Amino acid sequence: MAGVTKVVVLFSGKGSNLEALIERLHGKRVGEDEIRIVPITNRPDAGGIERARRHGIESVVVDHTLFESREAFDAALVQAIERHDPALVVMAGFMRILTPVFTSRIDAINLHPSLLPLFKGADAIRKSFESGMKVGGVTVHRVTRELDSGEILAQACVPIDANDTLESFTKRVQALEHRLLPETVVALLKERAAG
Ligand code: GRF
Repeated sequence: MAGVTKVVVLFSGKGSNLEALIERLHGKRVGEDEIRIVPITNRPDAGGIERARRHGIESVVVDHTLFESREAFDAALVQAIERHDPALVVMAGFMRILTPVFTSRIDAINLHPSLLPLFKGADAIRKSFESGMKVGGVTVHRVTRELDSGEILAQACVPIDANDTLESFTKRVQALEHRLLPETVVALLKERAAG
């Protein structure tokens, strides 16, 4: 029977990838089901909240500053996610180191702006730009206890041109992210729908 499939998107910042997912998926059908994007953020001032609101979607805020420990925050985050019983949990610019309280309960995927396993962690776009390599890229991978180390689900390259600046390169990496992440989410939802 046609129903609703929820996709939780975790974000901390300006939310351009959240918006790319909303534009590509929210209210649309994958298989028989209609997709609903549920944005959850750890920051009450995240720019993505306003972006989602422009599409008529209210975000859930679980403010990490209100918790005494990472584990306590993760427990509250897990509860907020499970309340929606999502088919998929996507981290799109969610800037938190997660504890086993999260990774032992939630199967999530993450977007990272480099060709993993190269340039794990923060500042990956600048690190790949300054590496001397001729290409950078984007990776979508499964979330595990080890930062940026889970199974790679999708990857694509961005050439680094001789006359590129960090800014021009960053723009192309983000444009690629806005394409690769929704494509990967659709493929995973189709896989799931096919059973
Ligand atoms: C993206 O480049 C993502 O790969 C990284 O953080 C950035 C978030 O951008 N982890 P936005 O908030 O989706 O615009």
